[in-house]
Amino acid sequence: MNFKSNIDNTFILIVVISVTLLLIVTATMVYFMFKYNRKRNPKAGNITGNTTLEVIWTAVPLVLVLIIFFSGWADFRIMRNVPPDALVVKVTARMWMWSFEYPNGKKTDTLMCVPQDKPVKVEIHSADVNHSFYVPAFRVKEDAIPGRTNYMWFYPDQLGEFTITCAEYCGMGHSFMQGKLVVLPPDKFNEWLNEKPPSADTVKTDSTKIIADSSGVKKVNIDSINVKKNSKVSKDVKKP
Ligand code: CUA
Repeated sequence: MNFKSNIDNTFILIVVISVTLLLIVTATMVYFMFKYNRKRNPKAGNITGNTTLEVIWTAVPLVLVLIIFFSGWADFRIMRNVPPDALVVKVTARMWMWSFEYPNGKKTDTLMCVPQDKPVKVEIHSADVNHSFYVPAFRVKEDAIPGRTNYMWFYPDQLGEFTITCAEYCGMGHSFMQGKLVVLPPDKFNEWLNEKPPSADTVKTDSTKIIADSSGVKKVNIDSINVKKNSKVSKDVKKP
């Protein structure tokens, strides 16, 4: 059910194959530098045709890329098959923040809460330009495209706070387009899901706090960034 380790295994497989090939190619190159140097071979020879060698260097890479393909394809099939009992959360991307909507109509900005050990389906769309919804901790990333609803799912097996970020350059505030994913125990999640929506002032304070927490160092408010960026844009536009 959880495909996190499958993706890690495919990644490790590709790294191992790449590093092995790099070492073989580099070692051969260094060896040939000595074997065929000018002192030992004052007259350059011309070597042509070696069927055995040609078959090997065609067959071995072919097998390797097929192994990589099937490993990736097996993971991809799991990732595209959403478990029927998944919690559906609608995600809207816009310059430059994430908004979430739950089946009971609850809406949040920046903060996404999910229950532990229950698959979550994310339906992603964009209100303006292309973005990409990325949760590195659960190995998922999916583009947010205006006029289209994309989907993905993940399995939150760990409690805690995780980073949501935008993985597609979407303008000046791209690097600040972060959110927070909080995995709660199921009873705590239900409590959160059904609590009364806070007033507008509280929402603002919450998002300030969240940005401060997720970035660690910078204490910035995403609203103030948007205002600043926008005012800069309008100033630039006014210039003759
Ligand atoms: Cu949204 Cu980059």
